[in-house]
Amino acid sequence: MCGIVGYTGANPVKPRLIEGLKRLEYRGYDSAGVAMQQDGGLTLVHRVGKVAELEEALSSFDDSSTCGIGHTRWATHGAPSEANAHPHSSCQGDIAIVHNGIIENFAELREELLSRGHVFTSQTDTEVVAHLIEEAYDGREGDACKGDLMKALRHAVGRIVGAYGIAAVCAQEPGRIVVTRKDSPIVLAYGEEGAYVASDIIAVIEASRDVAVLEDGQFADMTPEGISYFDAAGNAIEPPIMHVDWDIDVAEKGGYPDFMLKEIHEQPRVVRDTLAGRLSGGSLVIDELGLSLEELNLIDRVYVIACGTSYHAGLIAKHLIEMWARIPTEVEVASEFRYRNPIVTPSTLVVAVSQSGETADTLAAIRDARIKGAKVFGITNVVGSPVARESDGVIYTKANKEIAVASTKSFLGQVVSLTLLAMLLAQSKGKLTLGQIRLLYSELADTAEQIEEILSDTTAVEEAARACKDAASALFIGRGVGSAICYEGALKLKEISYLHAEAYAAGEMKHGPIALLDEGFPVIVVATQSPVYDKVISNIQESKARGAMVVAIATEGDQEIAKHADHVIYIPKVRDAFSPITASVPLQLFAREIAVLRGCDVDQPRNLAKSVTVE
Ligand code: F6R
Repeated sequence: MCGIVGYTGANPVKPRLIEGLKRLEYRGYDSAGVAMQQDGGLTLVHRVGKVAELEEALSSFDDSSTCGIGHTRWATHGAPSEANAHPHSSCQGDIAIVHNGIIENFAELREELLSRGHVFTSQTDTEVVAHLIEEAYDGREGDACKGDLMKALRHAVGRIVGAYGIAAVCAQEPGRIVVTRKDSPIVLAYGEEGAYVASDIIAVIEASRDVAVLEDGQFADMTPEGISYFDAAGNAIEPPIMHVDWDIDVAEKGGYPDFMLKEIHEQPRVVRDTLAGRLSGGSLVIDELGLSLEELNLIDRVYVIACGTSYHAGLIAKHLIEMWARIPTEVEVASEFRYRNPIVTPSTLVVAVSQSGETADTLAAIRDARIKGAKVFGITNVVGSPVARESDGVIYTKANKEIAVASTKSFLGQVVSLTLLAMLLAQSKGKLTLGQIRLLYSELADTAEQIEEILSDTTAVEEAARACKDAASALFIGRGVGSAICYEGALKLKEISYLHAEAYAAGEMKHGPIALLDEGFPVIVVATQSPVYDKVISNIQESKARGAMVVAIATEGDQEIAKHADHVIYIPKVRDAFSPITASVPLQLFAREIAVLRGCDVDQPRNLAKSVTVE
């Protein structure tokens, strides 16, 4: 949720930290700070707000420092403030650290450190680590760690319980940054200009496309000359180097006013890339799942576990898996699944869906399911992420890096991946013939072009958004798979425009939500061609009868709907099973347009962070 960056080399660190923090800002953005080695000491600068505020504050500092660490924060312990912004330093101010994650035993450690005379300047859990390193470094814990930053860091992490990615610098060790992690990502790269560390590849790939992914319990020792790696026991290791093949332009807006719009427009490519190579010899292949068709055939229950938007992709999957493979499927938010005692057996398949691959609740649910003997498939966008590593098999969504906090292209990649999984399960159960699979695959592939068509003319979406922008609240309704699309449409709208929105299965209207409707109340209806189309029309009529303003997402050529709805957004005709892929796109555009009209920060909505690594 927060971002770590660090550099040591021959060049000025300040612009490198700022550049790295800007690239990481999407992960958390309530405050930011840096610690730079300078004139034999450490210079710490913190600012509340966006990285631009920090950049402004740093403009009066010279470029003499060539080693430092930086952080962009999303508050967990302690409100966003300069005092709580990272880096945090020791009492003497000669050791500074940045930390992602949560120190679970920080309260006990803080008491202990206070009793030994340490003075705390923040309310964060992180600060205890700086003081623990300080004690070890200055010899209060004996000579073993004295004067050695790496040993002192080892000592400190031996005392803490929780999740962490940590980078530390010390005034007495010029040019050195020491790093470790547990359950929080850290990557390192060594390029022509020196050594880089970050919590996300996006902050280092300009330096080098070859990055090392630190594993839990490992340490890295960075100097301008190179990076050395050690395992938990202190033995030197050579971590595998991962080559990053996506382009740095994912971190640029590429002419679009915001990342969200850019990412919405990338969706045809996401569909194509996610499908590429999946049909071989006339049947579906997803080798990365590591299970044969015979093993898949034994599955008798599916749980899809996820949070937020990924959970909505799961709702769509339930429809498809039950329709095609006839396997009972439950969709559950990961934070609930992990704390109840779900019925899981060795023939249960748990599908964990997570864009970031590092959502704490989803990871905990995966671990729980595996202990109970289930097979776990991960569906994620991030190669080598914890969800990918802790699952028995994985499907990558091929969305590439998603920067806007509101998920769009990742969601679409998840839906396409889950559609493939549903087809594969049906194939393994013999519920779909190879001929049917081929037909479905070909229609699925056509959705890429259909999305392009939707994106080529957005006039109707813009008109509908203008009509709804001043509303206080909106209702999204649909039936069948259309109701799942509505949940996602409502979430998109509320998270980026702060307009209150709720989604309901349209049949539920009369059981409560209809009481909300009055003159001009926006009701957004997914009314594409489906077996329940007529029922949806009745729901539109009920809404109109109460004065609501109806915006309908409908199938091209449907003249009837224009008689009932105030605004119609037409999309190409697809089979009902694939309507989530196409119908979600105008809803994403609708939410974004309203957010823009309301003057909201589309890419970085308030209070949110891109990856939620805490419970
Ligand atoms: C909303 C959004 C969130 C995430 C949720 C789960 O646009 O992106 O609701 O879907 O926080 O995150 P992941 O998919 O990374 O597990």
